[in-house]
Amino acid sequence: MHIVNTAQAAAWNGPEGANWAAQSERDDPVNGALTEALLSAAAIGPEDRVLDIGCGTGETTRLAARLAVRGRVLGVDLSALMLDHARAAATSAGLRNVEFTAGDVQVHPFPGDEFDVAISQFGIMFFADPVAAFGNVRHALRPGGRLAFVCPRGMADNAWYVAPMSALHGERDPARLPDSAMFSLADPARLTEVLGRAGFTDVRPRPVDVPMAFGADMAEAAEGFLGSGPVLAVLQQECGPSVEAAREILVEALRRYEGPDGVRIPGAHWLVTARRP
Ligand SMILES: C[S@@+](CC[C@H](N)C(=O)[O-])C[C@H]1O[C@@H](n2cnc3c(N)ncnc32)[C@H](O)[C@@H]1O
Repeated sequence: MHIVNTAQAAAWNGPEGANWAAQSERDDPVNGALTEALLSAAAIGPEDRVLDIGCGTGETTRLAARLAVRGRVLGVDLSALMLDHARAAATSAGLRNVEFTAGDVQVHPFPGDEFDVAISQFGIMFFADPVAAFGNVRHALRPGGRLAFVCPRGMADNAWYVAPMSALHGERDPARLPDSAMFSLADPARLTEVLGRAGFTDVRPRPVDVPMAFGADMAEAAEGFLGSGPVLAVLQQECGPSVEAAREILVEALRRYEGPDGVRIPGAHWLVTARRP
């Protein structure tokens, strides 16, 4: 497998990927409401051939496969660890029209003109060269093929990031928090330009505000955050907090988001659609 996004491959094949896989075992998915909006925008038909970019443990891949009943779905991801979960879950769901491939979407040798629609839930913000990566997705789509993905809007609008990270950094101003690749497509002008340069037309970013589900209670939510990439980076700092101190800080910071349905924190996203001419 040829990989150019090597830091991302290391992260998602390591503790961050293991944590994401553990979260995806929960009954209440982190992004349930957002996934519905994504699949509705993708308008997957029964015969469609679907590409799921950065499919992770394959939640959206499986849902797409249930829509593309006579078509097929390919999930591509950098993380062998997450793909193991994805394959096991697709098999136990009895889905026969799903395949998974380990690869870097930026350089994966897609034959070309192969898919009717490409989707992604948070798998497209981490490309080292986004124009090249989206260009490769365009090449994988047939002429007239559709792209639909979700990504976070600005950091300051995303309480699920700002609340825990401000508390851990002891920083009230979100503008002073360390930048994260997660927000690389937050600027709609930039994302429209990137997709245009990659050869897409009809680029439409629409805002979608939905809460994200971080577990049944504070203990579950804190555990999930402790294994996430941004929090792991804080823990690895020379003068960073211990795991136990960080857990206490997180519980305190997230308490206000706990309710009868569990821990729900507002998220601000772009739902982006585009088309290969
Ligand atoms: C935030 S996770 C989202 C996973 C999944 N789409 C979901 O909604 O649960 C980001 C995923 O994108 C994958 N990823 C990041 N860069 C990638 C690339 N260049 N090629 C393939 N997968 C990539 C990571 O391995 C990771 O599984």
